[in-house]
Amino acid sequence: MSGYLRRDFFKVDGNTSYFDGELFEFLLLTQSESGIHGGMAEIGVHHGRSFFILAKARLAHERALAIDVFEDDAMYHDPRGLGRGIRFKQNCERLKIVLTQDEVFAGLSTAIGPAEIRRRVGAVRFFSVDGGHRYDDVRHDLSLAADSLAPGGIIVADDFMNPQWPEVSLATVDWLKGPGNAMTPVLATPAKLYLCARRDKPVYQALLKRFFAGNSCVVRDTAMFSDEYYFARQSTRAKLQCLLKERIVSRLFGTASSRIGTQTNTVAEPTPLPEKRAA
Ligand SMILES: C[S@@+](CC[C@H](N)C(=O)[O-])C[C@H]1O[C@@H](n2cnc3c(N)ncnc32)[C@H](O)[C@@H]1O
Repeated sequence: MSGYLRRDFFKVDGNTSYFDGELFEFLLLTQSESGIHGGMAEIGVHHGRSFFILAKARLAHERALAIDVFEDDAMYHDPRGLGRGIRFKQNCERLKIVLTQDEVFAGLSTAIGPAEIRRRVGAVRFFSVDGGHRYDDVRHDLSLAADSLAPGGIIVADDFMNPQWPEVSLATVDWLKGPGNAMTPVLATPAKLYLCARRDKPVYQALLKRFFAGNSCVVRDTAMFSDEYYFARQSTRAKLQCLLKERIVSRLFGTASSRIGTQTNTVAEPTPLPEKRAA
């Protein structure tokens, strides 16, 4: 486990769970053993919690692209008024993560195409999709990720089956069932769905078996239509240890998880519902 996961992960405000963090790191570090090479990218960076795992896993010739509007929005206001852009930069400095200009794209994910992503970081071997959570955003971002992917690459979609974000699940399933889509689920965690090309599934199944053997987790077989894949979650004991660590770090450093929103800036804020009248 890297120093970032051990020491700094919970000091960076964000939504990504420690369990997914461990999976990100394991897959990023083992892909090369299977001959899978390329850049990394994330749509939806916030303060950088999950993106820094990608950036820290870069080999000498590799680059990682951070795509975000980097602005506070209707669902997230920085408590100290600094905003997402400043917080991300501050965290990069604190964690000594040096990014080139090409590795940061400040704008909507609809404003960048696969050719530009490949120009900036090469074909992508690990693509985390955690930006706008509306139907159109999710479908767009998954297509963008698939079109930018290197052979053997993996896409990780956030908040699949999260009841707070129903459009994520609908868009992901519709996208997966679209004509000619070669991507298929290989793993679901309580928060994310991991997708790879059908032909690469045995490679990732083998890697995941190694991860499961070395980590305290509960694993089940599941399926979507006829596509079988793993469902895995942390063991209760490991989860409690994480929660405790997160609470302590949050008290000491004032960071917090699971409070940030994912409303895209492309849609208007919903009209508030009228208050109920007293009977
Ligand atoms: C849930 S946060 C990302 C959390 C982060 N991956 C983590 O590990 O904590 C969602 C981010 O997506 C960004 N975002 C939302 N819609 C976007 C869009 N259409 N294009 C680019 N970024 C977007 C927001 O600015 C926000 O920072």
